[in-house]
Amino acid sequence: MRTPLIAGNWKMQGNAAQATSLVKNILASINRLPNVELLVCPPFVHLPLVKQLLSNTPLHLGAQNLSAEASGAFTGEIAGPMLKDIGCEFVLVGHSERRTLFGEDLPLVAAKFKAAQDAGLTPILCIGETKEERESAETENVLMQQLTSVMKLVGINAFKNAVIAYEPVWAIGTGLTATPDQAQSAHLFIRQLISQNNIDIGKSIRILYGGSMKPDNAAALLSMPDIDGGLIGGASLVAESFLAIGSAAERELAA
Ligand code: PGA
Repeated sequence: MRTPLIAGNWKMQGNAAQATSLVKNILASINRLPNVELLVCPPFVHLPLVKQLLSNTPLHLGAQNLSAEASGAFTGEIAGPMLKDIGCEFVLVGHSERRTLFGEDLPLVAAKFKAAQDAGLTPILCIGETKEERESAETENVLMQQLTSVMKLVGINAFKNAVIAYEPVWAIGTGLTATPDQAQSAHLFIRQLISQNNIDIGKSIRILYGGSMKPDNAAALLSMPDIDGGLIGGASLVAESFLAIGSAAERELAA
């Protein structure tokens, strides 16, 4: 049984007061969701503040990015060991905004995945196709490339301690969502790729869906057999909608 994971990616949004009230509002109702793991990924500068607020609660903490290097003269970068040191457990790796807007290529994403694990963090590896790639029937090729470039560097066993997020680029922040069937078929493809290398890891790895997941479409997506949670952008900035997605995951478990 895979524990559902509902992760909030706040991106570059909110000041300290907003981060504080968002976390407090999530914590006020988190006990209603005992069987779902909830995670927030605030901007770097709010991590210590959020860590303080969620200490000794079931809410988990992650970062949105990390350097591929562990330390050194890399102005403006943040290293995995620093994130671990301030209490992060998870880190997003290869989010499509990093790949497209900041030029993160396959080798760099793979190196960041490795850096996360070397620092004792659980990477959430984001993969997904663009609209053009989907329309030219390249989706599975793209997913395979994005996954195998990491697998080649770290080996399949590294995926024991990792999460994958399938995020079709055309659905991120656009209000367009993959249909439950489209998402399920991508998730199944990803799981089969992992299973071909290690059947137990294939069964146990959590694969999240991301891309305009909202309270009104979450239940249908989360009811699919290979969708184990969500990576939520916009809807994670409002405690009520983030919690509503958590409740949808909780209801799916009971169904
Ligand atoms: P969205 O973002 O929910 O706003 O589409 C998802 C993501 O970028 O992880």
